[in-house]
Amino acid sequence: MSLRAVDLHKYFETAAGRIEILRGLDLEVAAGETLAVLGESGSGKSTLLSLLAGLDAPTRGDVEIDGRSLGAMSEGELAAFRGRELGIVFQQFHLMGGLSALENVALPLELQGTADALTRARDALDQVGLSPRGDHLPARLSGGECQRVAIARAIVVEPALLLADEPSGSLDRRTGDAVNALLFDLVARRGTTLVLVTHSQALAEACDRRLHLEDGRLHAR
Ligand SMILES: Nc1ncnc2c1ncn2[C@@H]1O[C@H](COP(=O)(O)OP(=O)(O)OP(=O)(O)O)[C@@H](O)[C@H]1O
Ligand SMILES: [Mg+2]
Repeated sequence: MSLRAVDLHKYFETAAGRIEILRGLDLEVAAGETLAVLGESGSGKSTLLSLLAGLDAPTRGDVEIDGRSLGAMSEGELAAFRGRELGIVFQQFHLMGGLSALENVALPLELQGTADALTRARDALDQVGLSPRGDHLPARLSGGECQRVAIARAIVVEPALLLADEPSGSLDRRTGDAVNALLFDLVARRGTTLVLVTHSQALAEACDRRLHLEDGRLHAR
């Protein structure tokens, strides 16, 4: 699934005035490509991912997925795209607090009406090493465990597009490496397009391409 951002602008109105986070950002990612987005804290990396996911609308400009403009899609079409094609690992995980780890992972499959949702969710939890925690609510999991549940939830649908915001940021080196290997395994098996935000040079080096978000635009270095 190819991804394109054209002249993307994102401004926020705050009490202190307007802040311009993205200012004419252009981006093209080919189907099956892996891209690392680097940049200082506050540069707009998470903001960019939410625009690429169609979770927030740009102030100006557009995002195209396989040549289709997100801005031109109805809410229903956007929801269908997100449900079927998109996996997203949020920086703050955004797990459902009332659902167990296993139920969180099964949710995207159940929303699609997949018959073997729980079986596949158990397998995904197993892949991130969390089988023994399947019954726990997020409040009873550690930060790194929540992050792994979020990763399992993103990969369980085998998405065509995977957006991951510091996917191993809360994990120790060994666990982080194992989890990152799962993301790249999905890319290799499924041809998934991967855009990940990371502060890790090693993880960035594992991607096909690296871009730096600075002054509201992406720069090659
Ligand atoms: N809804 C909002 N209203 C006002 N300002 C916002 C909003 N969302 C984000 N911002 C501001 O936009 C800037 C970019 O935020 P963003 O979360 O995209 O940064 P980031 O590059 O992901 O940083 P980090 O590396 O710390 O995660 C920040 O200064 C933030 O305060
Ligand atoms: Mg961020």
